[in-house]
Amino acid sequence: MTTDPDTLRTDWTARIAEAGDASALEALRVAALGKAGEVTALLKTMGSLSPEERQERGPKIHALREAVSGAIFAKKDQLNSAELDRRLATERVDLSLPSRETPRGSVHPVNQVMDELTEIFADLGFAVAEGPEIEDDWHNFTALNIPETHPARAMHDTFYVAGSGDPMVLRTHTSPVQIRTMQSQPPPIRIIAPGRVYRSDSDATHTPMFHQIEGLVIDKGIHMGHLKWTLETFLKAFFERDDIVLRLRPSYFPFTEPSAEVDVGWSIEKGRRVVGGSEGWMEVLGSGMVHPRVIAACGLDPDEWQGFAFGTGVDRLAMLKYGMDDLRAFFDGDLRWMKHYGFRFLDVPTLSGGVGA
Ligand code: DAH
Repeated sequence: MTTDPDTLRTDWTARIAEAGDASALEALRVAALGKAGEVTALLKTMGSLSPEERQERGPKIHALREAVSGAIFAKKDQLNSAELDRRLATERVDLSLPSRETPRGSVHPVNQVMDELTEIFADLGFAVAEGPEIEDDWHNFTALNIPETHPARAMHDTFYVAGSGDPMVLRTHTSPVQIRTMQSQPPPIRIIAPGRVYRSDSDATHTPMFHQIEGLVIDKGIHMGHLKWTLETFLKAFFERDDIVLRLRPSYFPFTEPSAEVDVGWSIEKGRRVVGGSEGWMEVLGSGMVHPRVIAACGLDPDEWQGFAFGTGVDRLAMLKYGMDDLRAFFDGDLRWMKHYGFRFLDVPTLSGGVGA
């Protein structure tokens, strides 16, 4: 083993430069500068040197110690900053919010259309009312002038809920919310009631659960003209077109008298059938003047209070506006469908900004 300070200096600085990590570097430090280290041992020999030797070797030995501890210090610094770079590269934390460009999830067209409807009717002074989805027979049928023997009960393909006590059903329409509203607040009344409804039916345009929206106005001196204006204003805002043409066709609903089915005119644009114009007609709503018997069933005097009501399918409105053709896909939960037809969650419909997305 050499004791030549210059050779040792070259040796140690080379080994230090090659140290791969902090613990290898520490082992080198102990081996060179520790109590029993090689450089320390050399320093200890200084006392036994002759004055001439000390003059010659002394500066070299000190220079060796300076060089080794300097090299260790510099290497430590280099290893530390390499470690910091590695951590910065691998331990990245993204503190930014999901931006408009990277939305997670999307709003279902049914929710979007319900928000659009709520916005439109809120602007006309309508409040939103709700009722239970498991409804009693009286609110779903009897109070709406559909007595037990009425064929309309069979027409609704009702799901009955088993149990003792009053017969319960999954509500077949949102019309029972009319009854609950008239029972719970004094007129004048202006409400819409969007929500889920249930019927035992399934094909491309029917699913066992679907969505309706009900409208109800109860006040004094209300007539069909108010009904027609309201529906026209609503459909123009919803489809965002001024050329919306309505046709009221005499019809029958047990809870309205007179009753009208409302058709909207369509036309062909770029090979697609769109709402607007009047090349043909399609039915979009049921409506009429609230039957005096329904008003009386809620404890109001039908000679004093009149009103109109309407009901329509929310899913169907979504299909017409946004161009889907299979209702079943609405409820399949297929993410590819949602990606295509879903809405960005920041696209909140407002009348000022346009209710359409
Ligand atoms: N409840 C009806 C249905 O489910 C829709 C409806 C028609 C509601 C006429 C109304 C109305 O309020 O006046 O088919």
